[in-house]
Amino acid sequence: MDAGTRYPIIGNGDVQSAEDAQRMVAETGCQGVMIGRAALTNPWIFRQVLEPGLTVSEDQRIDLCARFFRLLLETLETREALHKMKKIGSWFTKGIRGGVHFRQRLNHCDDPRH
Ligand SMILES: Cc1cc2nc3c(=O)[nH]c(=O)nc-3n(C[C@H](O)[C@H](O)[C@H](O)COP(=O)(O)O)c2cc1C
Repeated sequence: MDAGTRYPIIGNGDVQSAEDAQRMVAETGCQGVMIGRAALTNPWIFRQVLEPGLTVSEDQRIDLCARFFRLLLETLETREALHKMKKIGSWFTKGIRGGVHFRQRLNHCDDPRH
């Protein structure tokens, strides 16, 4: 905790990787780091802070995406699920093989069973 305050200091803003988070703690002495946008394309970033060097394969990313889509379809009305799939699917598949093709198909999809 900072000497001048009883409150924990949380670093935040533009943390793109686990290394960025570790550097922020090392350089500022903050007690925690909040990660926003980077977690949208890499939900494993929090584990990677605790387990440096942890890599995630394309298959793991595709599996997570598929699991997430199934959960959306199970819990939301189809239209709403599809809307979220389009948004989140485009983040999850950034940089993976076949990602561009997948996003094009997803964006033109009006029936999630296809
Ligand atoms: C999807 C998303 C959800 C967020 N949810 C919260 C939240 O619940 N509470 C909060 O204080 N900030 C929230 N934020 C803001 C981030 O913690 C952060 O302040 C902001 O995104 C800038 O950090 P970034 O460069 O890591 O995105 C959220 C940001 C994003 C992108």
